[in-house]
Amino acid sequence: MPTERKTKKLVVANWKMNPSSLVEATKLWAEVKRAVGRAPHVQTVICSPSLYLSTLSENLSGNRLLLGAQNCYFERSGAYTGEVSPVQLSNLGVRYVILGHSERRAMGENDELIGKKVAAALREGLIVILCVGESERDSEGNYFNTVKAQIENSLGKIPRRYFLNLIVTYEPVWAISTHATGVELPADMLQMSIFIRKVMAGICGKDIAAKLPVLYGGSVDERDCAAYITEGGADGLLVGKMSLFADTFVPIIKNVNNAAASLD
Ligand code: PGA
Repeated sequence: MPTERKTKKLVVANWKMNPSSLVEATKLWAEVKRAVGRAPHVQTVICSPSLYLSTLSENLSGNRLLLGAQNCYFERSGAYTGEVSPVQLSNLGVRYVILGHSERRAMGENDELIGKKVAAALREGLIVILCVGESERDSEGNYFNTVKAQIENSLGKIPRRYFLNLIVTYEPVWAISTHATGVELPADMLQMSIFIRKVMAGICGKDIAAKLPVLYGGSVDERDCAAYITEGGADGLLVGKMSLFADTFVPIIKNVNNAAASLD
């Protein structure tokens, strides 16, 4: 959570359209729940497909493992077939929502729509994990402009006080699900986290921007996760594929916990 930025690191699982059954989902949830008891320096969040949220919400206890959604709409209720509203999520005990993920942008979501969703979710008291990131890395540094435009175009019209519940995740699209090599990602992340806070300061003021958690996402695994925390200035990680099995996700929680403890 934003107020815990200095003390806890976030590890957010983005299950995407997985697993394929509720039985598997509840099993994985239970395995992760057992592991978070040994990770006091980490706030773990599982962002599950909407249809599992209700069952998983019945297994919430304590604060170390919280529940998130992967998308929501910007209206509270009404004739919007197939959509889920922030108030519905909030009433279920869901605390986080991912918005602006590159996979949703690829399906046609633009900054204006994402901004409306972010505003609606923040208004409802949800913690928003806004994803930004360039599709291609160019040597001239234009990707910084891409990230700046995504942030400014989606957040420009939102009242400042809401930003205390905002998290920004830098996810270079080319690094998602690819295990791209040959780039210094933790070092890149450090530069980008400073840049993102600078852009945010222009929108919500320096004080709030200084508290803004900035996460990294894109092919994170148990080997490189700690480096993003200790060298990359990340306040946490958004983990896709490696969050789908306890065998690959629990070591990430453990390594981030150790990395966070070493920074204390
Ligand atoms: P990945 O996904 O860890 O499988 O690259 C991350 C994400 O898309 O959030």
